[in-house]
Amino acid sequence: MVLEALHENPQVLHVGTEENRAYYIPYREKKGDALHLLSGADWKFQWFQSYYEVPEEFVCGRLGNADVISVPSCVNMLGYEKHQYANVKGPIPFDPPYVPLENPCGAYIKEFYVDKDTDLYYLNFEGVDSCFYLWLNGKFVGYSQVAHATSEFDITDFLVSGKNYMSVLVMKWCDGTYFEDQDKFRMTGIFRDVYILHRTREHIRDYTVKTVLQNKRAQIRVSVQWKQEPQEISCQLYDPDGKMVAGTGCAEGGIVLGVDEPLLWNAETPYLYRLVLRSGEETIEQQVGIRKLEIHNAVLYLNGQKIKLKGVNRHDSNAFTGYCISKEQLMEDLMLMKQHNVNAIRTSHYPNAPWAYELYSQYGFYVMDEADIETHNAELIYAGGRSNYNYEDETITSTSFGMLCSDPLYEKSILDRVQSCISRDKNQPCVIIWSLGNESGYGVNMEKAAKWIKEQDPEYLIHYESSIYQMPDHKNDLSNLDFYSRMYMPVKESRAYCTKNPRKPLILCEFSHAMGNGPGDLEDYFSAIYDNDCFSGAFVWEWCDHSVYAGKTAEGKDKFLYGGDFGEFPNERNFCLDGLISPDRKPHTGLKEFQNVARPIRTSYEQGRIWLWNAMDFINVKDVYNICWSLKADHETVESGLIEDFDLLPGEKKPCEIKFGHEMTEGNTWTLLLRYIRKESDGLAEARYCHGFDQIILNKAAEMPVIEERKAVSWKETPKHIVVTGENFRYVFDKWQGTLSGMCYEQREMLVRPMEYNIWRAPVDNDRKILGAWIGAGYNRKTVRVYDTQIAEVPNGISVNFRIGVGAVFLQNSMILEAEYVIYTDGTIQIDVHGIKDPVFPYLPRFGIRLHLPKSMEQVAYTGYGPYESYADKHRASYYGKFKSTVTDLHENYIKPQENGSHWGCDSVELWDEWGGLKALGEGMSFNASHYTQETLESTAHNFELQESEETILCLDGSMSGVGSGSCGPRLIEAYQVNRDLRLNFVLKFYSLNND
Ligand code: GAL
Ligand code: MG
Repeated sequence: MVLEALHENPQVLHVGTEENRAYYIPYREKKGDALHLLSGADWKFQWFQSYYEVPEEFVCGRLGNADVISVPSCVNMLGYEKHQYANVKGPIPFDPPYVPLENPCGAYIKEFYVDKDTDLYYLNFEGVDSCFYLWLNGKFVGYSQVAHATSEFDITDFLVSGKNYMSVLVMKWCDGTYFEDQDKFRMTGIFRDVYILHRTREHIRDYTVKTVLQNKRAQIRVSVQWKQEPQEISCQLYDPDGKMVAGTGCAEGGIVLGVDEPLLWNAETPYLYRLVLRSGEETIEQQVGIRKLEIHNAVLYLNGQKIKLKGVNRHDSNAFTGYCISKEQLMEDLMLMKQHNVNAIRTSHYPNAPWAYELYSQYGFYVMDEADIETHNAELIYAGGRSNYNYEDETITSTSFGMLCSDPLYEKSILDRVQSCISRDKNQPCVIIWSLGNESGYGVNMEKAAKWIKEQDPEYLIHYESSIYQMPDHKNDLSNLDFYSRMYMPVKESRAYCTKNPRKPLILCEFSHAMGNGPGDLEDYFSAIYDNDCFSGAFVWEWCDHSVYAGKTAEGKDKFLYGGDFGEFPNERNFCLDGLISPDRKPHTGLKEFQNVARPIRTSYEQGRIWLWNAMDFINVKDVYNICWSLKADHETVESGLIEDFDLLPGEKKPCEIKFGHEMTEGNTWTLLLRYIRKESDGLAEARYCHGFDQIILNKAAEMPVIEERKAVSWKETPKHIVVTGENFRYVFDKWQGTLSGMCYEQREMLVRPMEYNIWRAPVDNDRKILGAWIGAGYNRKTVRVYDTQIAEVPNGISVNFRIGVGAVFLQNSMILEAEYVIYTDGTIQIDVHGIKDPVFPYLPRFGIRLHLPKSMEQVAYTGYGPYESYADKHRASYYGKFKSTVTDLHENYIKPQENGSHWGCDSVELWDEWGGLKALGEGMSFNASHYTQETLESTAHNFELQESEETILCLDGSMSGVGSGSCGPRLIEAYQVNRDLRLNFVLKFYSLNND
């Protein structure tokens, strides 16, 4: 077919659409719902490689070869178009406003029946990617774009009574594609609802609700815009209990409703009033949250209270349905968020479905609502780019990043995207911050957009991170931006900003990159947030892993795919797997970490007293939480109790007396666990849900190895080996490796392969930036050279000492190891390895040894931080205790396999099978027991392809580097790097359960 290519014309963004308005669904008294939903499973559909191939008869509702599909949906999820996961590098040549002539498109036909009367009919599309042309009964109705905005058409004159047919041609790309370069799977289609609103001739077209709070009184100001002439209107306000508290019948100008002693909305107590607007036959209902937002001296206040945003970035993303998200799917996300103490959502990087905000308001989430703008590709064009951060004027010069935000040709595009977002969501109580978009650089178009927002309401708060980028010929005007926003700003820098007399509150719109086994810096950031009033909060990148589900393997394993799995170019591989939950909505350990870092209450032990601190902003602890404590002796509960009704105001800290009926004995480990239990359900987290905990270690008593005295050991030395024989064991040292190559205890060989020194780990995604340095240092291909071996008799045994150089082919030694093994007469081995690292080498992934044990060694018990995987910088979901598990269960099943399932801060680790086992006792070790070698984890692309080894691999580490956030965030905080004090010190004992 022939088209006037509107989709490449940035001067014409919409044709035939109504002006923007607030989202609402009116209700008709006589006719019932004004809504006639067209979404459904009966749309005809055909996919074409370009619109030239679409037959002309399509506009008349005919398609030769159409399938029947469901709408809303994503074409890619239905198998018509291949998947592409792209990030900065966009899917088409950078040639705005032009897109390839070979521009695939979906032709949709929908037939429907209308019993037409004299009223008005509006056709609404809530989301179409990337743009669409619309015909009704063969006539051209209009065109629209902006994937995540509502397009509304008055179709009254096109409709007939009885059967109607509508043709929608959806183009994969348009000039808007350059503004929708968000980091996501690139999908196309009608992915949100389509419906007709059947409305009276005269009606409320738009309305704006503003709440004003003065002392103990609120005003609800409603300004109404009419379709034609102003009409009679009645207006009632109902309180959260459903009681009418204010009402008016006047129609002139603005409506003002007064409420005395109003209940205020906030994310912790999301009290909502209900506004009912009646005009003629139509009724519109609107949630109203009475609230007041302010910034004073660079501090963000809600209702006069300083608040903290404990947020996540959430995409509309689902491995089964793509961008198309139902209410049930969103509710599942919200439930997980509430349970895990998330109180804020950034709608990265576009507005969500309009109805989603009603749920956010109802359940209590602060929302940063982001306009559908990202022109990130502009940064990576040939010879484009950005300079380093300039600390003087807090800017980064970008030569190309902000080009579309500066070009007058795109002023309309930018304004349109910002306006459609704000106009649609302006009445949603949950929205506390407007975001101009993401990663588009800065320029005059953005400045105009910010100015437009302030003209709507000077009290609107605006955020835009990319305003730190400055085009070479422009001085950024930031006067309308209310926050100093950054992404992935290191903790240290964030703290420094706060102490430098800041002019604006700080928000990290992205931090703590949750990719794979991560993030590892949550507690460090939260303590900076809590320490500084001007640090308003931060949003984790990101809520969920993006993936496409591809069914099960022959063995029944789920196949979740990522970038590159579809042969697409460009792709950003597994950079889409960076969420706190898996694509099938299972919390990762990172979410558990977030939960406890963001716990509502914190307990500390200072000067011999227990102190409670209320980390919430509005709730008194006594109103929502019980504190359930248990006192444990050697990890067994000996006493417990419930603190009910503990009166603790938001932000308050005070001592709490807990009387124990036990004496703390020196020789035992005493811990106190306090769990914060919700008294009643809030609709998302059920009653008795535990929102977090604190552990206080009152006394730690190490388990001491028992070493018996048996017949003296003997040893034999050859040029390569030392064989040490005792009453019930025979151990073999390999003098060339400086380790044990055989450990035979009670006739059973424990080692499947010789023991190794281990400085490598299967890189976690967040190792991405250091990985090059590690490989350059040869850590993944380490060689050892033993210089010196010494054998000596010691009381009740012998000692074997090695001096070892650790290097790699063509590289010098990165460190020297001094290893001492003491073999006692009962077979106990004491191992002490000390490393002296050459400081020119980077920090190490880990410092430890690796044992290859029989696969049957499946049972695990450890004393340390569990039950979740734990690392130096990611252990707040876990507590110090004694845990039992299996090697199989210790595995955390990341889609892209990587180091996982380690446990930090361990004092004992035991592995066994039905014949016997081994136990390592040390202090503060980390260990990892797995059926997968680190080499297998590293080289396998997907979890469903993982091959178990025929062994149980036990890594005992003196230290293991933290996991950090480094795939996108700053480098690993120094304290968590394995760099100095390299020491591994433990006692190893074998035992046999074979008593006959
Ligand atoms: C940010 C960006 C996000 C995402 C993230 C990396 O720069 O805003 O959209 O790409 O990096 O996962
Ligand atoms: Mg980006």
